[in-house]
Amino acid sequence: MHPTTVHILQLLLAEDCVSGEDLARELGLSRAAIWKHISELRSLGFTIAAQSGKGYVLQNCPDSLHQALVHAHFAPRTIGRQIIYLDECDSTNARLKHLAEEAAAPLAGLTLVTDRQSAGRGRRGRTWQAGPGEALLFSVLLYPPFPPSLLHGLTLMAGVAVVEALATLGVNTTLKWPNDVYLEGRKLCGILAETSAELDHTNYVVLGIGLNVSGHPPLLEQLSTDLYSAGIQPKRAEILAKILTSLEENYALFLDQRVDEIYDKWRLHSHTLGRRVTVHTLQGELSGVARDITSEGALLVTLDSGEEKIVTAGDVTVRH
Ligand code: BTN
Repeated sequence: MHPTTVHILQLLLAEDCVSGEDLARELGLSRAAIWKHISELRSLGFTIAAQSGKGYVLQNCPDSLHQALVHAHFAPRTIGRQIIYLDECDSTNARLKHLAEEAAAPLAGLTLVTDRQSAGRGRRGRTWQAGPGEALLFSVLLYPPFPPSLLHGLTLMAGVAVVEALATLGVNTTLKWPNDVYLEGRKLCGILAETSAELDHTNYVVLGIGLNVSGHPPLLEQLSTDLYSAGIQPKRAEILAKILTSLEENYALFLDQRVDEIYDKWRLHSHTLGRRVTVHTLQGELSGVARDITSEGALLVTLDSGEEKIVTAGDVTVRH
């Protein structure tokens, strides 16, 4: 999309109605030139009404995830400044890892988004499924300048970023340790951070996020949900823009080594703390009450025996 067309789209998104005259003045173009850009937007699937004597009204946007449409919703700094959209791929995490390995120079903030994945990856070796076009499926490439031992705040940071982004759309979500996003007690969004690192150096991190928007697959083990089921119907480009903005803000805290602030926000939105939980670890199952997260982002559980246990990896079931 031409940058001027993106600019016009931004103005249409910001106002209920914009006159051709105002657009022409703001952009220093003739009204005929404005009309051409409006026609281009229409040909891309935007519904734009022309109200005589008033101006242009953006009535509907296509549910597309192309960079130009996402950029119409926010002003990217690093994260999401470059967005690659693919109709289909195996896994956005796998593709982005591949790009990171092949790149001659760092591609900080590069975002890969797709409509469908044939081999979506979930945590702990599971698959992640979503019907075509039903979910927001994307990955972001980051280069944290810390050793892997200091990356614990990163996955919790991503959960916080998603919750805060959804709050700006009026959606109230919570976090289940380590970083599942829940809506009305059901899983809405999963996050998978994959790291390439040496002992004392992180090469890169691919942060993958899958958020159910207009549908969710019937999962066996977990009760999941999507935004439409909860009566909320934002366009995926807008959700992506909000999440990328929120990731930029929260990642800045992480880079400033203000992980405590991220953890405080995590606690605030937690769906886990203070509740009875069963934790499924590779070593077996533990039951008790989730008390807190530690300064390393691990889950502190008081077991039924009274023993305090620090859980660094596992799946948590929250008992209601
Ligand atoms: C989980 O809850 O198990 C994590 C799921 C993460 C899924 C997302 S979808 C986009 C990105 N690409 C992948 O292959 N996985 C993540």
